[in-house]
Amino acid sequence: MTTTHEAHDAVDIIATKRDKGVLSDQQIDWVVDAYTRGVVAEEQMSSLAMAILLNGMNRAEIARWTAAMIATGERMDFSTLSRPTADKHSTGGVGDKITLPLAPLVATFGVAVPQLSGRGLGHTGGTLDKLESIPGWRAALSNDEMLAQLDGVGAVICQAGSGLAPADRKLYALRDVTGTVESIPLIASSIMSKKIAEGTGALVLDVKVGSGAFMKDLEDARELARTMVDLGTDAGVRTVALITDMSTPLGLTAGNALEVRESVEVLAGGGPQDVVELTVALAREMLAAAGQPDADPAAALADGRAMDTWTRMIAAQGGDPDAALPTATHTEQVLAPADGVLAGLDALAVGIAAWRLGAGRARREDPVQAGAGVEMHAKPGALVRAGEPLMTLHTDTPERFDRAKEALEHAVTILPEGDRAAVGPIVIDRIGA
Ligand code: URA
Repeated sequence: MTTTHEAHDAVDIIATKRDKGVLSDQQIDWVVDAYTRGVVAEEQMSSLAMAILLNGMNRAEIARWTAAMIATGERMDFSTLSRPTADKHSTGGVGDKITLPLAPLVATFGVAVPQLSGRGLGHTGGTLDKLESIPGWRAALSNDEMLAQLDGVGAVICQAGSGLAPADRKLYALRDVTGTVESIPLIASSIMSKKIAEGTGALVLDVKVGSGAFMKDLEDARELARTMVDLGTDAGVRTVALITDMSTPLGLTAGNALEVRESVEVLAGGGPQDVVELTVALAREMLAAAGQPDADPAAALADGRAMDTWTRMIAAQGGDPDAALPTATHTEQVLAPADGVLAGLDALAVGIAAWRLGAGRARREDPVQAGAGVEMHAKPGALVRAGEPLMTLHTDTPERFDRAKEALEHAVTILPEGDRAAVGPIVIDRIGA
């Protein structure tokens, strides 16, 4: 409800955007702040978010909207650290465990990596849920604990405090239930308000495209990447974006403990080739943006230096890096229906199956199963034989198998042997300042 003391009227602002108008700086500053204070009602912001989704915002409006969201909260300050800072943000995908090997890898080169992460909702997993499968590991750190860990170990992956861009926390929850997540201006301002408020010096964005991503279309992914790179650059953050493939899951696992296990394999110098390639590509970009264009992250994975940093990072947050990871009590296999070449393994279908098995949550307060998820035995391009296992499903609640298998009914495409499967590159494009 708008009070008579307020400088603007929410209905006028909604009508301006509904009629494809441009919002003024003052309108944006007011509506974002008034919504956070509870003066603009949820139904009014819901209507404005839908008008923005349908009619867009121009570059100046997006920049102002981002600044207004930052202004609702605190800003972090890493200037007391003795190291430069670099951060990575992924727009989210299936099997996207890259933060786990990447943060310690980049920290190995003396760069501080503050990864303020979230929990999973829907079919995409959350980094904190994955790490919480390590016995003893703790996601919540105070600002002082975080700074001390950045100065000591160099890498920290922890829960974002509620003080950063509180407007986004409220607006994101509203968008989630009003069909207004998939708006480029709203996604870009949501992500960048948190990253700019966090105060990192350099930022590398991993913008996913494909069935398992928000952006299904390459041109939309490019526009989202360009919008975020411009927002970061204008705010003084050295920002680049890689556009990467999310038509099929990353690596061979989707699920919390399963993904930690695979990340540890990568840190041990092994692991699936696509996970290694993307980890190294993002590390190169972060190190270059932090002033080390000639650093060789692949060597630090191969010789165990990154693993040493991982061990210290996990132990600093109470985790036991040597403890056995939890496993699910029940497994079931999905078999290849025909001989041939695996041409497709759909990311969204695998994400939904992992979610239904218990790896993800439907509501924010739901628990997740540490051991649940999908383990894949073949990637697109591989030859498969009818009846051999393509996937193993893991869960503690076997009544979930049927619904998970339903999600996977159309996930697999097998072409006759001799047909060429179109397997594209993992890094599709790079968008710089
Ligand atoms: N991640 C965010 O933080 N915000 C969005 O709007 C989408 C993905």
